[in-house]
Amino acid sequence: MKWTILFVLFVIVISCGQQNNTQHLQTQIDSLQNKLDKTYKPGFGEFMSSIQVHHEKLWFAGQAQNWKLADFEMGEIKEALDGIREYNTDRPEAASLPMIDPAIDSLNSAIAQKNPQLFKSSFVLLTNTCNNCHHATKHEFNVIKIPDTPPFSNQVFKMQ
Ligand code: HEC
Repeated sequence: MKWTILFVLFVIVISCGQQNNTQHLQTQIDSLQNKLDKTYKPGFGEFMSSIQVHHEKLWFAGQAQNWKLADFEMGEIKEALDGIREYNTDRPEAASLPMIDPAIDSLNSAIAQKNPQLFKSSFVLLTNTCNNCHHATKHEFNVIKIPDTPPFSNQVFKMQ
């Protein structure tokens, strides 16, 4: 009888400990989830503003036939597009992203071939695609065009 009581007490103590442990872990999970929910995530518009800058720089790099810089700007555009895919999964507009792929491929070949004519036609295709996607996603009021003047006065686009 004494042993049975001791055994029951033992089981109670062990299971209470486990329950406390589970509660403790749950509290930690809840607090981490809370922190995750509040983590800063760049928005669709922020990625677009970054793409806007690189679209513009890309044009002047291509005009200057600075293919290394043009290639770098393509990398920056790709990073921003990847960012949308990763961080803006809640935005249905992200589903329209693949429409930009043909223009990106065409620009990449123009840069690899150092071909100014192909660069120009590919850049026109890219710019039209920006606007086509803005139409498709009801942002047709954001109109993109081939830039007239370099965006920044503190960057050199000519090859040094
Ligand atoms: C997947 C479709 C899609 C493609 C492709 C696309 N955009 Fe956008 N763009 C959007 C959407 C959606 C918004 C509105 C974002 C928001 O909610 O802030 C936007 C907004 C913008 C804005 C306004 C940003 C602001 O906050 O002022 C600019 C500038 C822009 N895009 C530039 C471009 C350029 C340049 C390209 C092409 C190189 C491009 N976009 C390609 C969908 C697209």
